[in-house]
Amino acid sequence: MSKSCLTMDKLVSHCKTVGFVYPGSDIYGGLANTWDYGPLGVELKNNIKRSWWKRFVQENPSTYGVDAAILMNSRVWEASGHTASFSDPKMDCRECKTRYRADNLIEEHSKGEVNPDTMTNEEMEAYIEEHHINCPRCGRHNWTPIRQFNMMFSTSRGVTDEGQDLIYLRPETAQGEFVNFLNVQRTTRAKVPFGIAQIGKAFRNEITPGNFIFRTIEFEQMEHQWFCKGEDGDKFYHEYKQKAWQYLLDLGFDEAELRFKDHDKLAHYAKAACDIQYNFPIGWSELNGIHNRTDYDLSRHQEYSGKPMQYLDPVTNEKYVPYDIEYSIGCDRLLLAVLCAAYDEEQLEGGDSRVVMHFHPFLAPYKVAILPLQKNLGDKAKELYATLSKHFMCTYDETGSIGKRYRRQDQIGTPMCVTIDFDTLEDDTVTVRDRDTMQQVRLPIDQLVSYVQERVQFN
Ligand code: GAP
Repeated sequence: MSKSCLTMDKLVSHCKTVGFVYPGSDIYGGLANTWDYGPLGVELKNNIKRSWWKRFVQENPSTYGVDAAILMNSRVWEASGHTASFSDPKMDCRECKTRYRADNLIEEHSKGEVNPDTMTNEEMEAYIEEHHINCPRCGRHNWTPIRQFNMMFSTSRGVTDEGQDLIYLRPETAQGEFVNFLNVQRTTRAKVPFGIAQIGKAFRNEITPGNFIFRTIEFEQMEHQWFCKGEDGDKFYHEYKQKAWQYLLDLGFDEAELRFKDHDKLAHYAKAACDIQYNFPIGWSELNGIHNRTDYDLSRHQEYSGKPMQYLDPVTNEKYVPYDIEYSIGCDRLLLAVLCAAYDEEQLEGGDSRVVMHFHPFLAPYKVAILPLQKNLGDKAKELYATLSKHFMCTYDETGSIGKRYRRQDQIGTPMCVTIDFDTLEDDTVTVRDRDTMQQVRLPIDQLVSYVQERVQFN
């Protein structure tokens, strides 16, 4: 199928029908920009996180993981600048009262070809007027001026109404890595350069025109901070650009669907910044970011906490605040890209067709489907399920024709189907059918674990 045939609506419908993602609070009519992962989605998401952790933590002896608290001392957000300036340019449709981000309206109208990051609020208002961008909900054109809204969700802690402290749900996981810089360095005796990585939830009061899980108010980030000497910043910035790119290729993304996009306007603390964009059905959009954040974050925490954030070089005795190269990717956004890249509608010989998700086998929710040819082969099939499920996520299906059962597995992306037939009872062999080629091989059961293992690696 040509990628241009895949619409977000088609993907949302497929995800809901087979159990990847459901609308959040569905039975109550939903809650805008929240989604729940179903039985397949949770497996896919866990596998994405595993692949990232394997690549950036497990295989990197100088990177250490943390899992910091979502709720942090409010001073963290003063130091990071979020309290003062983590805001978005919002405008309301005066007709239907729907609120939008002005930059998103421009991005979507131009299919990602115009970058609103470089525009002032006045320029964005002028662009929206000039291109007559209408309200995506009611179709009319009657906008309020742009106003800035802080995107942090706040809550309070304390036992009495009077003595409550205002605290925030973290809008990025990165600050949990910065505030633990010295804890990690001291406990691991790490020498600069070294990395701190984290996967966790972040929350932003996003007002968006939907687009499924592309931009949500609660999402997971996979963030990696690489602390280095200032003079090595450029070198590592380029290195992490390449590592981030290679990771996506190794997950099976087509290079033609990815591109680097340098930021036209750098944040005041950044020395260099770029995104990797993916060609989503909504157009080219950010998948991940890479920043040279200089020594800004650690210096700010040093200033606001009064605690030194310097590293003492054990060889030269030099004391300095390291630079940070940040690589940040949204887990849900990557999952959306993985779904888009995997989805295919294939025409088969004989006029038949199938929907198939060509996931990298490491990411596939189930590695193996166990299918007894007939129900009375169920005991043998369940025995096999018990053996294989000790090693991999497996699924079991004994209803419907074998052809229908293959199709069901294709549409959820199961890389291998194992069929148990009457010969299995005689010679302990099974048929293994490949999702992508639909080719079948006959294998002894005792070779199955290693056969599957070999095919589901992520390297
Ligand atoms: N610490 C840097 C940081 O948070 P960001 O560009 O705001 O930078 C990093 O976010 C990544 O997190 C993005 O590239 C995107 O993949 C993901 N992301 C950001 N906001 C999101 C949202 N509202 N919903 C889903 N993913 C989001």
